[in-house]
Amino acid sequence: MGEYRHFEAKPLSGAVGAVLHGIDISHDLADDQIAEIREALLEYLVIFFRDQRMSDERLMTFGRYFGELYLHPNLAKKGPYPEVIHVVKEPEATRVVGAEWHTDTGHVECPPMGAILHALEVPPKGGDTLFSNQYLAYESLSDGLKATLDGMKAVHDDSRVAGPNANKGRSTETRDDEEWTPTANAHPVVRTHPETGRKALYVNVASAHYFEGMTKEESQPLLQYLFKHSTQPEFTCRFTWAPGSVAFWDNRCLKHIAVNDYQGYRRDMRRVQLCGDRPV
Ligand code: SIN
Repeated sequence: MGEYRHFEAKPLSGAVGAVLHGIDISHDLADDQIAEIREALLEYLVIFFRDQRMSDERLMTFGRYFGELYLHPNLAKKGPYPEVIHVVKEPEATRVVGAEWHTDTGHVECPPMGAILHALEVPPKGGDTLFSNQYLAYESLSDGLKATLDGMKAVHDDSRVAGPNANKGRSTETRDDEEWTPTANAHPVVRTHPETGRKALYVNVASAHYFEGMTKEESQPLLQYLFKHSTQPEFTCRFTWAPGSVAFWDNRCLKHIAVNDYQGYRRDMRRVQLCGDRPV
């Protein structure tokens, strides 16, 4: 485990995630602080901060320390900044954003490298987010399956998260207009992280629908196996939010899921995403 000068990193599980204590990210940061936060992100894949009350402007400033902010192609823009997505569930809503295990925005050519989510209002209980380490998911496969997957691509599209009926029961709206058509891109099933050089499994139930060169039917058994394999408890951590909590995750080697278990209560979050590379 890395030793850090600017904060203390307390791991959240044996597999992934750490809470960084002793650093205030709601004010300007120095280059060496930013470099250490990036280091911790690469070590833990998802890092958390507590008690950070950030305006939209501060959230964008924090995001820009790590890259260019990404404009989401589907989710509705609310408020003054199109870069800041309001991830909200009102008490009467029945569905949430991110209710299936996923990496973010996998249907585009260059999915975001990461996301930063800031909690403004949380339910009295529930509304946690789970994260799963996809390096471990890859590394724990047999050599035979690794060799099979290494050259394969999966076709990702946004048909489960946008388009007709996507907004039924949800407070955060996504594109469902008549001009919307699915966007599809093929990505390697195993991607190499551009900063760490490590291999990670890169398929998820929300966007990966079949393997390139195979039918959907042919693809299903292996896809289902990988979906299940990649989210086993040993690869995960669970984060319980409070107002002012922030999560910063690396979308290149991590999956996450929002737990929808707080019916009748409000949850209000702000999210920015960072531009990423084409997976290789
Ligand atoms: C997301 O999938 O980005 C939302 C996660 C959450 O609301 O916990």
